[in-house]
Amino acid sequence: MRVFVLSLTLFVISSLHAAKMLGAMSEAEDFDEQQKNEYAQKAVDKYNAESNDLFKWELDSVDSVNKQIVTGIKVDMEFTMVQTDCTKQAKISHRAWDKFEKVELKGCEEPFQRSKKDRVRKRLAHMVDTEELRKSHRVKRKDIIPWNQFMDFIDEHDKNYSNKREILKKFKIFKTNLKAIKMYQQKEHGTAVYGITQFADLTPAQFKKIYLPYQWEEPIIPNRMANLEAEGVYVEDALPETFDWREHGAVTGVKNQGMCGSCWAFSTTGNVEGQWFLAKKKLVSLSEQELVDCDKLDQGCEGGLPSNAYKEIIRLGGLESEDRYPYDARGESCHVAKPDISVYINDSLELPHDEKQMQSWLVQKGPISIGINATPLQFYRHGITHPWKIFCEPYMLNHGVLIVGYGTEKNKPFWIVKNSWGTQWGEQGYYRIYRGKNVCGIQEMPTSAIVS
Ligand SMILES: *[C@@H]1O[C@H](CO)[C@@H](O)[C@H](O)[C@H]1NC(C)=O
Ligand SMILES: *[C@@H]1O[C@H](CO)[C@@H](O)[C@H](O)[C@H]1NC(C)=O
Repeated sequence: MRVFVLSLTLFVISSLHAAKMLGAMSEAEDFDEQQKNEYAQKAVDKYNAESNDLFKWELDSVDSVNKQIVTGIKVDMEFTMVQTDCTKQAKISHRAWDKFEKVELKGCEEPFQRSKKDRVRKRLAHMVDTEELRKSHRVKRKDIIPWNQFMDFIDEHDKNYSNKREILKKFKIFKTNLKAIKMYQQKEHGTAVYGITQFADLTPAQFKKIYLPYQWEEPIIPNRMANLEAEGVYVEDALPETFDWREHGAVTGVKNQGMCGSCWAFSTTGNVEGQWFLAKKKLVSLSEQELVDCDKLDQGCEGGLPSNAYKEIIRLGGLESEDRYPYDARGESCHVAKPDISVYINDSLELPHDEKQMQSWLVQKGPISIGINATPLQFYRHGITHPWKIFCEPYMLNHGVLIVGYGTEKNKPFWIVKNSWGTQWGEQGYYRIYRGKNVCGIQEMPTSAIVS
């Protein structure tokens, strides 16, 4: 017998069943047989509707049911299903708030026949009864659409809230954020689309506190201002129309800083990775954790500046690789070891606060570390962001990122920026921002290490 285990997350919305469930799902009680079967049947229906199997599966038995008592609405169950000889012709129509009512499966008029043993599968289903949730939280009917968006959000981002109160609190924040998203969208000058991201259950203040904890100021020891000519960077009018260091192998994969304000370390390693690649023809993914732990000029998860970090990399003798000194998203004791260091830098520079000159530097010298105002990025989905200035003041730098390229789309010039919030965010972890108007302070703090 082949046994498969997969997780299905089910959103069961059934006003017909709700009355029955309400009584049965009070926190102290368990399900009765009929309710177990109803839930398992929903899971089988979903499996049939979504799988590419030609033959229909039927529920054989419910093997175990566990519900999360804290919320009273999350159900984990294990069940066995068997494949019948009937072909299925699924007819499915979805409505955002009425998913399961509309699943119909046709083509199995014959009585149920148990078929060969190898067509038995055990399945695991994690189910959330959203109707039950909605009722138990007294969510008003006018809130049904945001509520269902919220349920999809929980599902998509695998959120684990510990109790009903937290769910309700998060829903309130989520609803307020939907209004903020609408406002960003209405005031957008670029082509950016704002929407629900993994940060949609945080108030802007909470988001700022966790991810943008640090107001960027002047570095403790200022960096030398680059003289582009002296650095051999020719500032020309005829720069390529588009340029992208990812196509030249100078950029590592998108990383994820987690719940730690270490963006500055990611911005720094991104730049050093590029500089090392260009000088030594080798791309090495570098350790942010070393900077979080060992950089004494900066504040680890509470923030920092690339300009300071370069100095500290020189003091520490270089950076270890990501593999040698892996990322933990929290401050630990410094354990850098000289023999494990992979790369060094010799110097660092502040680049001219001028997007045209930054463009020349980028093409000829590599990706640039920058500070930026990232406030609107909480809700960025894709496109070229160009927010209203009052939503993104250029002197309010609060986030470190890496410019890796530029281009133009629909007559809108843009920078391509590597972020450190994972690949799920933005355009596979990147975003594009309008180029040429110092949008969100993009030209306020460009810096680079020098490897010679
Ligand atoms: C929620 O819990 C699951 C299982 O323990 C875990 O894999 C997942 O990362 C958690 N989600 C979040 C957002 O922490
Ligand atoms: C750059 O730094 C490395 C390591 O400290 C050193 O070996 C190298 O000689 C330096 N290069 C120059 C040109 O100073």
